[in-house]
Amino acid sequence: MKEKVQAYIKEIDGFIATTPEDLDEFRIKFLSKKGLIPALFAEMRNVAPENRKEFGAILNNLKNRAQQKINDLKETLESSKDSRKDDVDLSLPANFMEPGSRHPLSVVRNEIIDIFSRIGFSVSEGPEIEDDWHNFSALNFPEEHPARDMQDTFFIEKNPDIALRTHTSSVQVRVMEKEQPPIRSIFPGRVFRNEAISARAHCIFHQVEGLYIDENVSFADLKQTLYYFATELFGKGTKTRFRPSYFPFTEPSAEMDISCFICGGKGCKICKYTGWVEILGCGMVDPNVLENNNIDSNKYTGFAFGMGIERITMLKYQINDIRLFFENDLRFLKQFESAV
Ligand code: DAH
Repeated sequence: MKEKVQAYIKEIDGFIATTPEDLDEFRIKFLSKKGLIPALFAEMRNVAPENRKEFGAILNNLKNRAQQKINDLKETLESSKDSRKDDVDLSLPANFMEPGSRHPLSVVRNEIIDIFSRIGFSVSEGPEIEDDWHNFSALNFPEEHPARDMQDTFFIEKNPDIALRTHTSSVQVRVMEKEQPPIRSIFPGRVFRNEAISARAHCIFHQVEGLYIDENVSFADLKQTLYYFATELFGKGTKTRFRPSYFPFTEPSAEMDISCFICGGKGCKICKYTGWVEILGCGMVDPNVLENNNIDSNKYTGFAFGMGIERITMLKYQINDIRLFFENDLRFLKQFESAV
């Protein structure tokens, strides 16, 4: 019996399993009901009573040894299975990764920034949550101006002095507070208005504001700057025209139209058969606005302009519903893949 135990120990210690099946075979051979080790326990009957205790201990050790071996091998097999998972088959074809694309509003915003930076405009940003001073008062809005009406502005409920900015003109004020002229900057950003959402209007949209203040800045500078901008964005033959308008923060104020780039001015659906499309508001900075911001209006003059990025993008790509910009429908967004 001792020889058997010795032989089994040798076999158990030397056993190697490469598959779970090997291991199961081993378990059956040694530990199952009809296995070798239970058979040894059965032989205890033949052992002299005084030696039984010793043999019992030897057999228990043997049984534990076999069980330990099984546990160890199980662990090894399992961990090698895990590491196989990480193995990389370099001969497999690569996963196809669909490239993303820029959002059309980002494409056009970047283009606008690019054009103005070529003629020396820097870029600044301001907060989306504003106070009455920066959004209205400093910009020369009279107290009773309809834009202050609850209809247009999202106010913070508990504090009517705080609102979501209704235009990026508020950034003009932020910049004038910090810097003295010469100032030559554009301010892209998101704006908010309490409007019903439709194909033409949204309560969230984007604008780019521009501000140029220095000595001797004239309306001619404004016209030339915006003419350059229009021809860069819409193509060389583009014509511009200025119509008188009103904004509280500019005097005189104007709206700029460009000749319709679809029909070349002959008249079509896009320009509503007028040959012209409006793209921005502009004007000479009102001296009150300069004085509100501690800039000497006797020494300095300036011009400002503001445009809606959605509007320009819709014109440029002939998109007829503003809601498409915010719905994240891939069928829409994918069409701008090549426009980086
Ligand atoms: N803030 C105006 C708006 O949201 C746009 C605008 C018009 C900006 C004329 C200007 C400007 O700087 O001079 O409708």
